[in-house]
Amino acid sequence: MDQIIVEGGKRLAGEVVISGAKNAALPILASSLLTDGQNTYSNVPALKDIESILVLLSHLGSRIESNYPFIRIDAAGLNNYDAPYDLVRKMRASILVLGPLLARMKRAKVSLPGGCAIGARPINLHLKGLSLLGAEIELQHGYVEARADRLRGNEIFFDVSTVTGTENLMMAAVLAEGTTVLRNAAREPEVVALAEVLKKMGAKISGDGTSVVTIEGVPSLSPVSVSILPDRIEAGTFMIASALTGGNVVVKHCEPEHLGALIHKLRQTGAEIEIGRDRLTVCGADEIISVDVKTLPYPGFATDMQAQFMVLMCVANGQSVISETIFENRFIHVSELRRMGADITVSGNTAMVRGVPHMSGAPVMATDLRASASLILAGLVAHGQTEISRVYHLDRGYESIERKFAGLGAAIRRVRG
Ligand code: EPZ
Repeated sequence: MDQIIVEGGKRLAGEVVISGAKNAALPILASSLLTDGQNTYSNVPALKDIESILVLLSHLGSRIESNYPFIRIDAAGLNNYDAPYDLVRKMRASILVLGPLLARMKRAKVSLPGGCAIGARPINLHLKGLSLLGAEIELQHGYVEARADRLRGNEIFFDVSTVTGTENLMMAAVLAEGTTVLRNAAREPEVVALAEVLKKMGAKISGDGTSVVTIEGVPSLSPVSVSILPDRIEAGTFMIASALTGGNVVVKHCEPEHLGALIHKLRQTGAEIEIGRDRLTVCGADEIISVDVKTLPYPGFATDMQAQFMVLMCVANGQSVISETIFENRFIHVSELRRMGADITVSGNTAMVRGVPHMSGAPVMATDLRASASLILAGLVAHGQTEISRVYHLDRGYESIERKFAGLGAAIRRVRG
C-alpha cells in the first residue's frame, strides 16, 4: 500500500486549483439513471469514489465514457436494478442509485451500505421517505428491495437533516405523480447543485437550498451537459494548510460563498483572508489564536472540516473546544495526532485541544477520508518526518493531493507500496 511522506517546517506559498466536488459528482452522476439519453459532465474529479459509482452505473446497464475531467453517461440501455454488495461495500454513497432506479425502473435492489469508521450511517430516513412516496420496501439478506408501480408525491419530514437522504428523495420525487414536499431538507451546496442539474433535465423543483424543498413530478426528464461545482472541503483543507504554516496561498476555482463558516473561524484564529470571485487568498498569522468550533449542518461549520481544523488548534496559543454534532465517532484522528505530540482530551462528542509549541513527525495511519487529510496537515508543521500509511482513504476524496501540496512548496512525496 502507498505511503505519503511529509517533512515539516515549510511555509506554503503559491496557487492551488481546486477540483470538482466528490459529494456533488456522486449524486449528479447517479441522476443520469433518470434519463434515456447521453449526459455529459465536466470538472469531474479523478477519484476512487467516482470510479466506484461509474462501475456500478455500468453494471446497471449505462454506457460510460470517462476521460477525466469529462464523463459521458448514456442510461438508455438500463437493464438491471440490482446494486450488489461487492460494489456497494466499496462506497456507501452507492445508496444514491436507490431513488433514481426506483423512479426509472419501478424497482431497485441495493445492498445495504455498511457503517464506516465515523459512524453507523443508517439510511432509515431514506427508506421512510421512499415508503411515503408509495414504495414497498423489504429488507432482507443485507439488501433493500424496493418496488413501486407509480411513485406518488407526499409530505416528508426528515427527523434529522440528511444530505444523501435529501438527494435520494429528490431523485425519486422528480418522476412521481403529484407534489412532494421535503421538510427539514439538507441545504448543503451539493444538494443545490443536484437540484440545479435536475431542473436542467426538466424537473420542477423549488426551495432547494432551504429546509423546505417542493418537487412537482413530471412524466420524463432529458439528458444534460453540466459542470461539477468546486469542492469546498478540498478548498477548506488548503485554506487551513496556509493558516497552519504561516503561508500565503491563493485557492483558485472555489466558491467563497460556500465557505462562509470556515472563513469566519479562520479569521478568528488570526488568519487574513481576501475574498475574490472564484478564489480565496489565505495568509497565515505568526501566532494562531485558539477558538471553539461546533460542527453543524450547512451553513454551519462542516463536519468534513473538523479533523483539519483540529490540527490548526493543536498548535494554537490556548485551549479550543471542538464539538462534533453530526457523527458519533468522528474523532478517530485524535489518537494519531496525540502520537505526534498533540494535547487532546476527548469526552463524548467533545474534544478539548490544548495548543502545544510544536508537534513531532511520526509514522501514523489514515483511518477515514478527512482524518487522512488532517495527518498530512499535521506533518506539514511537525518537526521531522511523518509517514502516513493507508493513504487509499485519501485517494477516495482528494485528487493528486501530494502533487498539489508539493506545488505549494511542501516537502511531500508518495512512496508506492
Ligand atoms: C454526506 O453523508 C457526505 N457524503 C459526508 O461526506 C458528510 O460528512 C455528510 O453528508 C454530512 O455533511 C456524501 O455526500 C457522499 P447525512 P451522508 O445523511 O449523506 C444521520 C466525506 O468525507 N442519518 O447528512 O451519509 C447520520 O447518521 C463524507 O466526503 C440518519 O440517522 O450524511 C448522521 O448522524 C463523510 N438516518 C446525520 O444523519 C438516515 O437515514 C447526517 O448524515 C440518514 C442520516
